[in-house]
Formats: sequence, structure tokens, C-alpha cells
Amino acid sequence: MTAAELRWTPQASTIAREGGAKLREFLAEGVETEYKGDVDLVTIADRTVEKLIRTRLGEVFPEHGIFGEEGTRERMEGEYRWYVDPLDGTTNFAHGFPQFCVSMGLEHRPAGTAPGQDGKLVAAVIYDPLRDELYTAERGQGALLNGKPIHVSRTQNLAEALLSTGFPSRKRHESPNVHFYHEFTMRSHGVRRAGSAALDLAFVACGRLDAFWEFNLNPWDTAAGILLVEEAGGKVTGFSGQPYLLDSREILASNGLLQGELITLFEDMFAGRNLSPILSAQEFARLRAEEKK
Ligand code: IPD
Ligand code: CA
Ligand code: CA
Repeated sequence: MTAAELRWTPQASTIAREGGAKLREFLAEGVETEYKGDVDLVTIADRTVEKLIRTRLGEVFPEHGIFGEEGTRERMEGEYRWYVDPLDGTTNFAHGFPQFCVSMGLEHRPAGTAPGQDGKLVAAVIYDPLRDELYTAERGQGALLNGKPIHVSRTQNLAEALLSTGFPSRKRHESPNVHFYHEFTMRSHGVRRAGSAALDLAFVACGRLDAFWEFNLNPWDTAAGILLVEEAGGKVTGFSGQPYLLDSREILASNGLLQGELITLFEDMFAGRNLSPILSAQEFARLRAEEKK
């Protein structure tokens, strides 16, 4: 499929790039932060870029609905709906930590789709303005990074995987994730916590990470990243392997090869079962040596 045949991502990419350029300007100027919740930050950059994306999407796709993190709810009865996070990684942005992006995912909701029911994700754009990296996907057409096809990693075992997760900024004292963070860290090459769920998913799609999980996400964090991972050959489910729904909140995304092992570990931890022992350095070396034979 040529760029001319793609239905949504060429226009959406222009908009995401424009939003990303604005984020770079705000970052250079410096912005004040406000609190939405206990440690949930928002800045003028979040609001300005959401407004910009809302306006541009309205010009290019006047029939499409928009559901944005900073409050945009437009044409929610429309056949198509964009989930927009104008700045995913606000805490990073506010501290000058260089990991944030613009995320836009498009859902097709044919007539008859009930209000609480999922449609189908059909297009995704994530733009990382500091690396100038643009991730795009349309359903059935594969995933691209700056126009070149990307694929998930081929890592087969959790013990050799690099993972990522995140922690909520609202009600963080209620999150059980630190226990999972510890367990997965001990059983893998490590767990990164870089602060942008959309980029975590984009990194799974292009093989920089092997898997990502998080509790308590929203559809504007995940919609674009899910399609990217799936179109790059990976898998996205809930923690028990159930189909992922946009309002699921809990997400487990991987290269597909690791999904079964990750689900088993989640199930064992939730059930409080005895986990298989973590290998010692000597046991691990012996296993590696045997694998090479
Ligand atoms: C946050 C980021 C972060 C994740 C949080 C999200 P925001 O989004 O994606 O990685 O851990 O749960 O809320 O607030 O920066 O758009
Ligand atoms: Ca977000
Ligand atoms: Ca945000």
C-alpha cells in the first residue's frame, strides 16, 4: 500500500508532528505545572496541544469524533472516533526528562455499536518529538517507524526479555504494581519505567522492548499503541489473556512469543501460588551453556 492509499495516517501524522513541534517549543520556554490530583500534573502544553489537535482533526475529518484526555468530547456518536493524548508523559515533560509523545488512535464504530461497546482500532499515530520518530499503522497494513516497516522482537523467554511498566499518578498508594515490578525484574533482563505508556507500546512494536504491562490506563494512553503492537506482529490482552477492551484499564502487550509465560506469572501471583524459584547466577550460566550445546 502506498502513502496515497492510506486513509487516515498521512493527515494525522501532519497533525501529530505539528503538536510535537509545539511541545518542543513549550519545553524550550519552560512551563508552569498545575496539579490535577495528588501527583497528577497538567501544563499549558497539554491543553494547547489538545486544542490544536482538536481543531486540525475537525478540519481534516469533520465527521470524526474526538475523545481527548484534557476534556475534548466531540461528535461522540460518530462512526469514527479519535482517542487523543496530546502529551503522554506530562511528568517527564514538566521535569525536562526527554520521554514523551503525542498519541492519536482511531476507532471505527459502525452503526449499531452500543455506547459501552468497542469498535475496531483502524489507525494509529504516535510522534516522539525529541527523537523525531513517527510511528504509524493502519489495520492490515503493518506498522511503520518514519515510513519503514517495524516488527516486534523475537525474544522467546522472559529470562532474556527487557520489559517496561508504569505506575499511576492517581491513587498511587492503592496500586499493587510494585510487587509485579519486583517479580518481573528478578526474572528478566530488567523492567524500565520510562513514564510514557504510549511510547512503551511503540517500543514494543519496534522491538526495543519485549513486553509492557500497566494497571489503570485510559484509552487515550493505549488506543494508538495497541494497533501499533498488533500490526507489528505482537499481542495485546488483559493479564489473564482475555481480549483487551479500550476501557479495560489493565494491559499486557508483548511480542506474542512471551505472552503465555507472562500470563502464567500474572495468574500465579494473583492466586498467591508458589512461584518457580528464581535462578541463581550459577544455574543461569549452566542453562545458557546447555542451550549452546
Ligand atoms: C501517564 C503516562 C505514564 C503512565 C501513567 C499515565 P500522562 O500519562 O502514560 O507512563 O504510567 O499511568 O497516566 O498523564 O503523562 O498523559
Ligand atoms: Ca497519558
Ligand atoms: Ca496526557
